Amino acid sequence: MKEVKTKRRRIIGSIATALTAASLVFAPVSSSILAETGSYADINEGHSHYEAIMAFTEAGVVKGYEDGTFRQWEQMSRQHVAVMMYEAFDLETPENLEGTLAVYNDVDTDHRYANQIAAVTEAGYFKGNEGLFRPDDSITRQQVASVILLARDLEGYDSSDKQEINLDDVDDSHKERVQILADLGITNQYEDYRPRESISRGAFSTLLYSLDQKVDELGSQYRLFDSKVIKDINVDDMYDNIAFLSEEPREAGTDGEKKAVEYIESELKDLGYDTEVQPFPIYDYESEVSIEADGSMLDEEPNAFSGSVSEKVTAPLENVGKASPEEIGDVEGKIALIERGDLTFVEKVQNVLDEGAVGVIMYNNSDEGNSFGQVQREQDIPAAAITREAGLDLVEQLNEGEVTVTLDVNIEQIEKTSYNVIASLKPDEDVDTGQLVTIGAHHDSVPGGPGANDDASGVSAVLELARIFTMYPIDTEVRFITFGSEELGLVGSSYYVDSLPQSEIDRMVSHFQMDMIGAREAGEDHPAGGLIMYTIDGEKNLVTDFSAASANRTLNEIVPYGQLGRSDHQPFHDAGVPAALFIHSPVEPSYHQPTDTIDKISKEKLQQVAEIVGASAYQIVRPETPAIEDKDVG
Ligand code: BES
Ligand code: ZN
Repeated sequence: MKEVKTKRRRIIGSIATALTAASLVFAPVSSSILAETGSYADINEGHSHYEAIMAFTEAGVVKGYEDGTFRQWEQMSRQHVAVMMYEAFDLETPENLEGTLAVYNDVDTDHRYANQIAAVTEAGYFKGNEGLFRPDDSITRQQVASVILLARDLEGYDSSDKQEINLDDVDDSHKERVQILADLGITNQYEDYRPRESISRGAFSTLLYSLDQKVDELGSQYRLFDSKVIKDINVDDMYDNIAFLSEEPREAGTDGEKKAVEYIESELKDLGYDTEVQPFPIYDYESEVSIEADGSMLDEEPNAFSGSVSEKVTAPLENVGKASPEEIGDVEGKIALIERGDLTFVEKVQNVLDEGAVGVIMYNNSDEGNSFGQVQREQDIPAAAITREAGLDLVEQLNEGEVTVTLDVNIEQIEKTSYNVIASLKPDEDVDTGQLVTIGAHHDSVPGGPGANDDASGVSAVLELARIFTMYPIDTEVRFITFGSEELGLVGSSYYVDSLPQSEIDRMVSHFQMDMIGAREAGEDHPAGGLIMYTIDGEKNLVTDFSAASANRTLNEIVPYGQLGRSDHQPFHDAGVPAALFIHSPVEPSYHQPTDTIDKISKEKLQQVAEIVGASAYQIVRPETPAIEDKDVG
């Protein structure tokens, strides 16, 4: 499992988290004065910009002058804005410094702040004018509006609460941005923003700081990152991936699964991930069973119970009904003939074993064939399933007198290999909350089923979110996983969870499982296409809370939660990780059928679920939101 570094810059995040020590900002600092007094010589708590200046100082974004002063009333120059943005947003110096600075005639690579000016230029915050950066010029208040909004990706912020502000004097290129500052309540100078005036070092600090606080405060209603994550979803790509994956069945342990695994892995690799393909063994049985009753062979070919022993026994047959303890008569040394139903296979087998039976023949309680049954590990007895018809024949024979049966079970276990595919996106170390969010789906299908909706649809969303999340800053690890052998009983996800050390499990704060998220015919006309979030215990949790909120923000829909297992969220829940299954209910008629094909897939449904899960998972892992304090508190 390896990481992909997010390519984008870090945002200030919580200012209180100390950033790496800043390089010289504004002027060489006499850190001793600052250290002694804990403040600047010329500022005290009463000053209006005190809070912002001290927060930025603590974060290493600004330092004062050599003499221990901050000089908050001094005008902010353009180069100092560049330096402060560079530190605050942890910008990277462009590799091609000279090329980046070539647009300016007044700044070259020897300039004291060459790195910072190049960085803000490459980030698109500054363009210069007529080939000049004018490093020593003061910056105007309207320019500040643009620069800080750009830096916080808020330039497109669309408020529902528009403020009246006089924009007459504002240049066209800055009008929208100044309006946004007003809408956000970052400025209250509505009468006149004084767009062409310069700004002091103190006032600039406060503006940037208020904006940062605003971003935190907007919290769950903050649409910016939602809208970005959502805008980026490419539902056509998702659809194409489903089309490819559903060309043939992906039954666990077959070439179909292998092909899907290779495809998923290569898609993730193309996105820049180092992937881990985790193999695990699965067991299949090949069996040959024959039953001879009073010298004549049964017409049909019975099936061995899974886990049955290989053994040939000849003994009298005894009808024990449904094998409840009350029904079982004398079965000592005999083969028990059992009707399916009421009790579990394992219970029935145990009941007759307890009475000394030496073999089990179970007939169906419906006309649905003879493929069923299992015994548990220590139940060492040959056991086979027959049809209802064959079973009732035997019952009839027994009614006429004793029947001696030879039950011959030959069973061979075949080990096959199935796989999980895992890709991890890691935050930069200095912002890492240490927590971990997993987003999963299962890539295997049932035998003979193309599994377009079950669950190539979920896989397509995992891949799409894996693509989108590389583009945004995160402070929490995100693992994208597709599981094998879900259809065999959650085998891949159980293996995955079991393979983790407890320390990893402790880091896990949420698991999102998407299984069957695109069937047009599912969900009837329920809101949000019938989407339901299922938890194992039926209680809401972190995942359902975040997702209910994101569904509300992005779709304006209420997505209910309910209680259901049946998918890979189960082992995560069992390990104590808040987890939910995203699925449409009621399910489509093509569920587990050969007709679960690409033509049944609705792009609209895919888009919706990817939006809801993407927006809520990103809400957890984006740097502006605090780490999860208690994962058990929904
Ligand atoms: N996607 C289904 C689960 C499902 C289907 C949930 C319909 C709700 C409605 C999953 O792939 C599946 O078929 N699971 C098995 C159980 C599993 C433990 C073998 C099932 O539900 O039979
Ligand atoms: Zn499924």
